Amino acid sequence: DTTAIPHRPGRLPVLGDLLGTNVRTPLQSTMRAGAGLGPIFTRKFFGLEIVFACGLDLVTELNDESRFGKHVGLGVERLRGVVGDGLFTAHTREPNWRLAHDILQPAFSAEAMRRYHSMMLEVARELTASWDGATGPVDVAADMTRLTLETIGLAGFGYRFGSFERAEPHPFVTAMIRALRFAQLDNVKLPFVRRALAGSSAQNQADIATMTNLVDEVIESRRREGGEARDLLGLMLTDGHPMTGERLDPVNIRNQAITFVVAGHETTSGALSFALYYLTRHPEMLEKARAEVDAVWGDREPAFGDVAKLRYVRRVLDEAMRLWPTAPGYTREAREDLVLGGKYRMRKGDSIIVPLPMLHRDPTVWGPDPEKFDPDRFEPAEVRKRPAQAYKPFGTGERACIGRQFALHEAVLALGIMLQRYDFEADPAYELKIVESLTLKPSGFTVRPRIRERAT
Ligand code: HEM
Repeated sequence: DTTAIPHRPGRLPVLGDLLGTNVRTPLQSTMRAGAGLGPIFTRKFFGLEIVFACGLDLVTELNDESRFGKHVGLGVERLRGVVGDGLFTAHTREPNWRLAHDILQPAFSAEAMRRYHSMMLEVARELTASWDGATGPVDVAADMTRLTLETIGLAGFGYRFGSFERAEPHPFVTAMIRALRFAQLDNVKLPFVRRALAGSSAQNQADIATMTNLVDEVIESRRREGGEARDLLGLMLTDGHPMTGERLDPVNIRNQAITFVVAGHETTSGALSFALYYLTRHPEMLEKARAEVDAVWGDREPAFGDVAKLRYVRRVLDEAMRLWPTAPGYTREAREDLVLGGKYRMRKGDSIIVPLPMLHRDPTVWGPDPEKFDPDRFEPAEVRKRPAQAYKPFGTGERACIGRQFALHEAVLALGIMLQRYDFEADPAYELKIVESLTLKPSGFTVRPRIRERAT
């Protein structure tokens, strides 16, 4: 029952709250629409009413796993056309969720991270080789995508996309971005608007085929060459469930492979891009981060254990993901009929979206100036003071991100390497513009990397 929940004034029949909404940027539209409405609000489009909760108290309830679970809704539901019951899009009740989760968990253990470190470093060196030779500004989001795509390709699948040898994005990336956008815009009920913005469904089918074919080729080449690699693909192809021995079927392996290539690079790329953006805007923080890299790493090549020692660099990333969590929300559904916040009735299966950039700006938690970029918010003493539910860039509960440690190791390492080696000149006139394709990225943000005097 949504009657007690506020919404923007001026709701129209049929169109609902559509006017003034930009369907290309649903998250940013939601932030504007929800401004000033409080911890819970609704938006309505053509009879579809969506509830958003962004206040700490309500989100704390929603994150209670005994009362709520992940809801596969809206954009995520549409992705099932691409990746079916892959880990991210599976309903928790589908048997393949638990099966795949348990088989793949060892690929994200501390021991596995040690194995990935040298591959992550190798890819970071591809980035520096490319930047060493750059004669002009580089597009940050495009190069961070090259870095993260190569990293998940190599560490997860022993596969090289060759992103740094290409002037344009790899065809997988182009197809993926279009397919994500298509899924995001699937909720737009006006077919001509949708076609204009997202392309035709024939194009979408072709994009899905591009992704599927590439993944089939990766799987085929591993089957041909064999090998004992204990990476994601190796675990999927050779390991059964640790208790029952049950194996993943070939269709599910393909769904997981696409899932991991996409989920394994898109969000990390955005997080690195926002972090670099904020550092170039705050030279004193950049200096502080670099001083840390110089003190802890010097000119050395970082070993595995050196990465977690970059505490300030990590805080910069944490703070970038507070303001712009690149997977900008998740959806929770009621496990039973219940009452939320002491007054909002929900039936079993009813769902609510948590728009993370709004939770991460709740002034009762983050103080009077939540827009201010300040990595010191993540000093250990500050973190201890704060409720854990106030910061959720990697989601919550049993369906939270399986790749969190992978992403953090990769991102801290890459940012450390960039700070160790370059000075950055950014266009002072650049104004942050964020593009959305289910995930968030800065658009049009460039820097000129120059090798530092002291770097070897
Ligand atoms: C799930 C964020 C990196 C693989 C999630 C969820 C979030 C998230 C919020 C939960 C979504 C939901 O509840 O609907 C992020 C962010 C990343 C990142 C911000 C980087 C900064 C990665 C990486 C991988 C990965 C590197 C793989 C190598 C997955 C998978 C799921 C997931 C497979 C689904 C897990 C499940 O439902 O069992 N991620 N992620 N993510 N993420 Fe990540």
